Amino acid sequence: MMDLSTSYMGFKLKNPIIAGSSGLTDSVDKITEIEKHGASAVVLRSIFEEEILLEMNAKLQQMSTNGFVYPETVGDYDYFDKVEEETTYKYLKLIRDAKSAVRIPVFASINCVSPKNWTYFPKQIEDAGADAIELNLFILPTDFNRTSADNERVYFSIIDEVQKQASIPVSVKISYYFSNLGKLIQDISKTEVKGIVLFNRFYSPDIDIENLEINSSFVLSNPSDIAISLRWLAIMSCRVNCDLVASTGVHTGKDMIKQLLVGAKAVQVASTLYKNGSQQIGLMLEELKTWMGSKKFESIAEFRGQLSQKHIDNPAAFERVQFMKYFRGFKG
Ligand SMILES: Cc1cc2nc3c(=O)[nH]c(=O)nc-3n(C[C@H](O)[C@H](O)[C@H](O)COP(=O)(O)O)c2cc1C
Repeated sequence: MMDLSTSYMGFKLKNPIIAGSSGLTDSVDKITEIEKHGASAVVLRSIFEEEILLEMNAKLQQMSTNGFVYPETVGDYDYFDKVEEETTYKYLKLIRDAKSAVRIPVFASINCVSPKNWTYFPKQIEDAGADAIELNLFILPTDFNRTSADNERVYFSIIDEVQKQASIPVSVKISYYFSNLGKLIQDISKTEVKGIVLFNRFYSPDIDIENLEINSSFVLSNPSDIAISLRWLAIMSCRVNCDLVASTGVHTGKDMIKQLLVGAKAVQVASTLYKNGSQQIGLMLEELKTWMGSKKFESIAEFRGQLSQKHIDNPAAFERVQFMKYFRGFKG
């Protein structure tokens, strides 16, 4: 009997396919469907720090107008704790309902850019029954008065603050826009976080040349987008103190196998589910089983990480050799 199970953030997952945070995980019906097709865990669509803060401020303003709020209560987390509003209420309800509807682990997700005022919310997420929290962190470095060290410190402050508030496992989902990415991933792995998701994907600006406007496109990834996470999983999987999960460009069973070979504990998928429907999860699992059968592997543990760069002291040297070998000999 083939064993597809893997462990991620302390959870034993029945297979390595996690439905990533997206609009496909924003309702109980969709989550149930995703479980039915075989996903081993689900990350709910994110709630944004701004949504939490906006609601909180609106409520405070309303209460202030009614004469209930005194300036000294602003900034008091215990006080904010009692404020219940529509968006946060709905998010917590989604967690509770999803938890009672499915058996697979349900991870909540918070998209955040600062460690201020909203960090009471992870405790509420925990109380609602979420199995873990994924922090989607991205600070666009457009404030030129700040150094990269200043920006990176914010990531650690957020992690620290959230860990103080919640005792369920926390993971972080980051981008690759860092000046010293490998070191940053390693440093994050030395905090209490249990997992790092490599990498996030953003709505990117595009240009409408007819209407001379900026719009956004490239919402869904393509299979070729796997290259960046594949490289960094290969470089980092044996150099960190926590689990790494691959995200971006994992569209097929083959893509998943590649990520497992370089050391991912699991993969997160979103675009391929938008393009092919949730049944893609079942097809990817079949592909995995067929491949494992052909290679006589009976468990993921037998091959996971086999192609990571763990035996190479300086991964950059390896990258450089590859570059010379392939580009010099390329005939077009
Ligand atoms: C329509 C859409 C909505 C998304 N919403 C979220 C979100 O709320 N929170 C989040 O962390 N990531 C979100 N993502 C990013 C995905 O979780 C994932 O990281 C990214 O799409 C790359 O994976 P993929 O190549 O499998 O799509 C979204 C992606 C898409 C396509």
